[in-house]
Amino acid sequence: MPAKFFPTNGHLLVCQNGTCQRLGSPLLFQALWQHLERENLAYYKAGGTVRLTQSGCLGACGYGPTLCVYRQRGGQLEEAWYGAVDFPLAARIARAVQDESDLPTEHRYGPE
Ligand code: FES
Repeated sequence: MPAKFFPTNGHLLVCQNGTCQRLGSPLLFQALWQHLERENLAYYKAGGTVRLTQSGCLGACGYGPTLCVYRQRGGQLEEAWYGAVDFPLAARIARAVQDESDLPTEHRYGPE
């Protein structure tokens, strides 16, 4: 077990599989990463609590770029899945994770 933990409010995963790549997920991931750094939301920044990782297929290829988020809220695991994600939506999701506020509802396709 590591001696030092970084605080984490939630984890965002952006699909980088083939269809999502063709729909712009590499640029989305890069822009979101830069946003987390610039706004001090990244878990390794002072006060930041958001993790971001590239993922494989999230199962909604035709609706890419797709993004899912996992977090603990109110003692429960909360997950949300999004399709057709653009940068403004991704930034709002990251902010909601950082602030522990409600996740956006637009473009959310799961879980049911
Ligand atoms: S390729 Fe991204 S969800 Fe399948």
